[in-house]
Amino acid sequence: MIHFFDPSNPKMASKIPDIATKVDVLLGNLEDAVPTDRKAQAREGLIDIVSTHDLGATQLWTRVNSLDSPWFLDDITRLVGEVGNRLDVIMIPKVEGPWDIHFVDQLLAQLEARAGLERPILVHAILETALGVANVEEIVMASPRMQGLSLGPADLAASRRMKTTRVGGGHPGYLVRSDPDPAEPDAQRPTSQQDLWHYTLARMVDACAASGARPYYGPFGAIDDPIACEDQFRNAFLLGCVGAWSLHPSQIEIAKRVFSPEPDEVAWAKRVVESMPDGSGTAMIDGKMQDDATFKQCQVMLETARQIAARDPEYAALYAL
Ligand code: GLV
Ligand code: MG
Repeated sequence: MIHFFDPSNPKMASKIPDIATKVDVLLGNLEDAVPTDRKAQAREGLIDIVSTHDLGATQLWTRVNSLDSPWFLDDITRLVGEVGNRLDVIMIPKVEGPWDIHFVDQLLAQLEARAGLERPILVHAILETALGVANVEEIVMASPRMQGLSLGPADLAASRRMKTTRVGGGHPGYLVRSDPDPAEPDAQRPTSQQDLWHYTLARMVDACAASGARPYYGPFGAIDDPIACEDQFRNAFLLGCVGAWSLHPSQIEIAKRVFSPEPDEVAWAKRVVESMPDGSGTAMIDGKMQDDATFKQCQVMLETARQIAARDPEYAALYAL
C-alpha cells in the first residue's frame, strides 16, 4: 500500500515513524487535499520529515502539484535538490500524454545531475483525465523512469463528466437488470451492480504489463465503508494491480490483506509448480488440467507470495516460504 500523509499537518507528521513500520510506501502529499495556503508549509514539512527520520526499508514517495500549477517547479526543485537521495518515486498527477512524462524526465535529469545524485528517481503517473486514459499506453512507455500508474477515480470522474460524486467504488444506479418473467410480469426483477472502473483499470493493467510498470488502484474515499473498500481493492488485485492507496490508517490493514494472496492459493500454486518441474507438458491435479500456461499463472502467485514473505515474517509463516 501507498500510505498518504499531509506533511503540513504537524500532528500527522509526528505519527510518521510509527506508520513507517506498517506500510510499504509512505507518500508525502503536496497536491489535492492540501489547502492552497498550506502548499509551502507542506513542502517544507516534507523536507524536514525526510531529513530528520530514518524510514528504514519503507520507500518514500511524494505527490507533487500538477505540472500546470504555480507550485510544481518549487516542489520538484526543492525536493530533488535537498532530499533527492532519499526520494524513491515522484507521483505526477493529472498526466495527459507522453509529453508530460518527457518534460518531467528531462527536468529530473537536470536536477539529479546538479544535486550529484547517483540513483535515478522514478516516476509514477496518476491516470485521472480523459486524455490521459486515451494516451495511457504512450504515457507508460514514455520513459524508463516509469515505475507505475494509479487510477485517480475522483479527478477522472470529473474530467469525463461522470455523474458520481464518490471517490472510487461502485454506484447503486450502475446496474443490469434481468428480463421480466413472462409468467409473473410484475414480479421484482433481480439486478446486479456493475463496476464503474472496470474498463479503465483493465486498460491500465494491460498498459503496465506491456511495459513493465506497475498498476495500482488509487484512493477509496468512503473511509466509513471498509467492506466496499475491500471489494474495490480485491477487484483490482484479481485484475492484476499490485496495490492501492491508503488514505486513513484503517485502510492499511485492508490493503495488506487484500493484496497478499490467500495462503491456500499459494499452497496450490506451489503444488502445481512442484508437479511440473520444467514447466512443460500436462498434469492432472485434483481433476484440474495443468499445462505450461497454468504453470506460469502459478508462478505469478508464488512470486508475489515470495516478495511479501521476504518482507513479512508473519506472511512467510502463513505461506510456509
Ligand atoms: C486521486 O487523485 C483522484 O483524483 O481520485
Ligand atoms: Mg486526483
